[in-house]
Amino acid sequence: MPLICITTRDGHKHNIQATTGNSIMETIRDAGIDEMLALCGGCCSCATCHIHVDSARLGSLPAIGDDEDALLDSSDHRLPESRLACQISVVEGLEGFAARIAPED
Ligand code: FES
Repeated sequence: MPLICITTRDGHKHNIQATTGNSIMETIRDAGIDEMLALCGGCCSCATCHIHVDSARLGSLPAIGDDEDALLDSSDHRLPESRLACQISVVEGLEGFAARIAPED
């Protein structure tokens, strides 16, 4: 149950005890944060779960997939630290993970 920190668009930081096996998107949704639409439910087809990952943690994540990369290209808010929250699984090594929910496209 790693502790992660999610910053919402208003700048508020939410410390969340994440459940291993869930995605970061599911973790955010289950914590009651409703500004992440996650319209496709995690099928990697909508890009509404866009987050900006703390750059210090970016290198420890699994590599970005081709589909994820292509979807992020459709966002006006893509940054080098952009990822889709539904494509990152919660594992014990994620302790201290931090990200900000990207602005809405
Ligand atoms: S929830 Fe749709 S791409 Fe992540």
